[in-house]
Amino acid sequence: MPGTPVCDFIEQYRGLHPARFHMPGHKGKSFTGPEACDITEITGADELFHADGILLESELNASALFGSGRTLYSAEGSSLCIRSMLYMALLLWKERTQTAPSQRPTVLAGRNAHKSFLSAAALLDLDVEWLWPGDPDDRLCACTITAKAVEDALRSMKTPPCAVYITAPDYLGNLTELKSIAAAAHAAHTLLLVDNAHGAYLKFLKESLHPMDLDADICCDSAHKTLPALTGGAYLHISPRILSGTDDYAAAAMQLFASTSPSYLILQSLDRVNRYLSGEYPQRLEETVGILNELKAFLSAIGYNVLRSEPLKLTVSVREWGWTGTWAMHFMEERGIFPEYADPDYLVLMASPENTPEDFKRLREAFTQLDRKQPLKRVSLPVWKPERALSVREAAMLPFETIPSEAAEGRIAALSAVTCPPAVSVVTGGEIVNAAAVRVCAYYGIHTLTVVKGDPHRN
Ligand SMILES: Cc1ncc(COP(=O)(O)O)c(C=O)c1O
Repeated sequence: MPGTPVCDFIEQYRGLHPARFHMPGHKGKSFTGPEACDITEITGADELFHADGILLESELNASALFGSGRTLYSAEGSSLCIRSMLYMALLLWKERTQTAPSQRPTVLAGRNAHKSFLSAAALLDLDVEWLWPGDPDDRLCACTITAKAVEDALRSMKTPPCAVYITAPDYLGNLTELKSIAAAAHAAHTLLLVDNAHGAYLKFLKESLHPMDLDADICCDSAHKTLPALTGGAYLHISPRILSGTDDYAAAAMQLFASTSPSYLILQSLDRVNRYLSGEYPQRLEETVGILNELKAFLSAIGYNVLRSEPLKLTVSVREWGWTGTWAMHFMEERGIFPEYADPDYLVLMASPENTPEDFKRLREAFTQLDRKQPLKRVSLPVWKPERALSVREAAMLPFETIPSEAAEGRIAALSAVTCPPAVSVVTGGEIVNAAAVRVCAYYGIHTLTVVKGDPHRN
């Protein structure tokens, strides 16, 4: 059973009844509740990105649990880890290829990349080659990418990209054939980076589906999304395969983008979670997966279209039941049940072992109370792949304005437009908004777009 060095340290510190003449300014007094445990990098508390004390000990515990070569904590979510892993990939690519300074670094990425991926592309001046959803049934929230699509794309590129970048699970809960994608990436002498923000728990299934076990080189997990960690708690995992030579890069990468004041409340919660994960969690997870499977089978039996998804998501296409996802979400919320996401097609719910039997009972009842109506026709979306006019960085560094989407045709997007990150972006910074993209925006209720001011080609 791993220790809890961070929690222990804070407990001991509180026991000293300290006169706090250090940050934070609340001095441990309760204003909203948790202040007594909220400290900063005082003597003995270690330093997050130069860790050699309690934080290193705790991170090593996490690394052993996840089977990584090295795990670093983030108190700023997977967003921080995504920027960091792209920076690492950039440095490793430069080392690997000894590139001429003129050669542009490119990442081959699934189009459902989270907006932190796009901010990293702007900050690091990366070009992006997109892998578009491979399944005609994919809407904005799903992005099925096959190993074959990755192989073909890699073959068509003149030089290997810095990395292949996959977001899996996607927002609807689809898993991707990561092992074969990793093999394709490695055969092309590049890295596989995985945004596993929704999948920290996959490690603790009877058979792990975690990217570290499926040959990813670097991945991030938002501990807070599926494990009982405080919001903001996340992991950057580096595979033993590439560990040698990257250790310095990892901490430097995190420092480049992170706040210098990490929240110890979040770090403590990651520390505490280690003990839970190595104890009763796998058993509780298995029970929860059983309960959800039973609920999914019940909903399918009474006629709902329940999509295949990773075990802790319940994704229902409610149009066949006569409802849009958005209406169904309001219906649930009126009954005190709060789903994760809804759009015109889908309703997505996320469960965890911390949901109570009462929660599941209420959810089941709500589904049975939803009147079945005439199925709503599925609206087919036009193919809208936009052309690129500027790099992601060029577009992000220009003055911009926000205009109604229907007036944006022909304009260059400054920032990406998504229904909800990490959906497939309708446009990303630097792309020209086309007529089909405007129709997709209308369908998803994206009423405004942020576009570059004027025509940068003419200025
Ligand atoms: C797929 C995906 N990646 C990354 C992120 C960012 O994660 P975090 O909120 O932990 O920074 C999110 C957040 O919604 C996400 O859904």
